[in-house]
Amino acid sequence: MKIGVFIPIGNNGWLISENAPQYQPTFELNKTIVQKAEHYNFDFALSMIKLRGFGGKTEFWEHNMESFTLMAGLAAVTSKIKLYATAATLVMPPAIVARMAATIDSISNGRFGVNVVTGWQKPEYEQMGMWPGDEYFSSRYDYLTEYVTVLRDLWGTGHCDMQGKFFKMDDCRVSPRPQAEMKVICAGQSDAGMAFSAKHADYNFCFGKGVNTPTAFAPTAARMKTAADAEKRSVASYVLFMVIADETDAAARAKWESYKEGADSEALAWLTDQSSKDTKSGADTNVRQMADPTSAVNINMGTLVGSYANVAKMLDEIATVPGTEGVLLTFDDFVQGIENFGQFIQPLMKTRQYLLNDTSVEKEVA
Ligand SMILES: Cc1cc2nc3c(=O)[nH]c(=O)nc-3n(C[C@H](O)[C@H](O)[C@H](O)COP(=O)(O)O)c2cc1C
Repeated sequence: MKIGVFIPIGNNGWLISENAPQYQPTFELNKTIVQKAEHYNFDFALSMIKLRGFGGKTEFWEHNMESFTLMAGLAAVTSKIKLYATAATLVMPPAIVARMAATIDSISNGRFGVNVVTGWQKPEYEQMGMWPGDEYFSSRYDYLTEYVTVLRDLWGTGHCDMQGKFFKMDDCRVSPRPQAEMKVICAGQSDAGMAFSAKHADYNFCFGKGVNTPTAFAPTAARMKTAADAEKRSVASYVLFMVIADETDAAARAKWESYKEGADSEALAWLTDQSSKDTKSGADTNVRQMADPTSAVNINMGTLVGSYANVAKMLDEIATVPGTEGVLLTFDDFVQGIENFGQFIQPLMKTRQYLLNDTSVEKEVA
C-alpha cells in the first residue's frame, strides 16, 4: 500500500484545538517533515491550497503558505519522494499552472504532479474579487474539465488551441514540457466530482470516516470504482486519515480526548456557518460532514487512535477495501508522528513488508 503525508501548509495542521500543538507553517518545518517522510520511504507528499482561515482563538488556517512555491522548495531538498501541489483553479490560469508544473518537474527530476480543486469555500475567492457567482457551485466541474484539458494538451504536446466556454486558447504554448508523465489528482466526492475523476484524474482522494473505523469509507471507494469502470479507466482511491498513536491505546486515547476538550468553538462555528452557503452541488454535504459535532475538532477526518500495533493493523485493513491503493496521512504532531510511524508502526504493517524485503531500501534506511 502506498503512503503519503498531507503536509501542514497551514498553521496547526488539521487540529482545531487549543490543546493541540500550536505552530506556524514554515518551509523549515515542512522540509523536516518531508525529508523524514522520504527517509522512511513514504511514497508521496501533498500540500493543499487554502486562502482563508476559520478564525477563533487558534486562528485556525489564518496562516497558510502557497502550495506550488512550497513544493518547488521541497523538490530541491528531496530526491526520491513524489510531490504534489494543489492548484486553486479559479485563480490560477491553466497555462501558468502547466508551466509551473513543468518547472517543478525539472527541479524534482520527474517527481511532481498536481491536485486540481474547484474550490468550495466562497470567502476564499470573494475576498479577492474572484468568486464567479453562486452559479459556479453547479458548474465547477465543467470548468475543471476544460481546465484539465488545457493542462493535458500543454503537457502532452506543448500546445493548446481549445475553444471552450471558460477558456479560449490561441496557439498557447508551454516549453519545456515535463520529462515524466504528469499525474493529476482530484478529490471529488460528489457525483459530478467523481465523474470528473473517472474521466480525467489518475487518482481520486477521499475522506476516511469515523474514529477507528478504517474501512467505513468503502462505499465512497466503491462509487469511485463504478464511475471509473464506466469510463473503462483505472482511477485508484487514496484515503485521508489522521494518525494519533502512542505506546498504548490508553495514552493515544488520552491525547485524542484532550484535543477534543480543547476544541476551538469559535473556529468551528465559522465552519458550520459555511455549510449553509452551497445548496446546489453537493459540496454542502462536504462542509456539513466536516462540521459534524462528532469529531469536528479534526474536521471529521477519519481518525486512527491507538497503540502502534493497533494503528498498524487498522492501516492494513484499509488496504483490503477494493479500489484503494493508498492512504494520505496527517498527524497530531507531524515530526514526532512520522518518526514514530517510521520506527514503530510501518515495520508492523503487512502491507509495507515489501519495503523490508527490498535490499536497496534497507540500505537507505540503515
Ligand atoms: C485529500 C483532500 C485534499 C483536498 N485538498 C483541497 C485543497 O487543497 N483545496 C480545496 O479547496 N479543496 C480541497 N479538497 C476538497 C476537494 O477538492 C473537494 O472539493 C471535496 O472533497 C468535495 O468534493 P466535491 O468537490 O465533489 O463536492 C480536498 C479534499 C481531500 C479529500
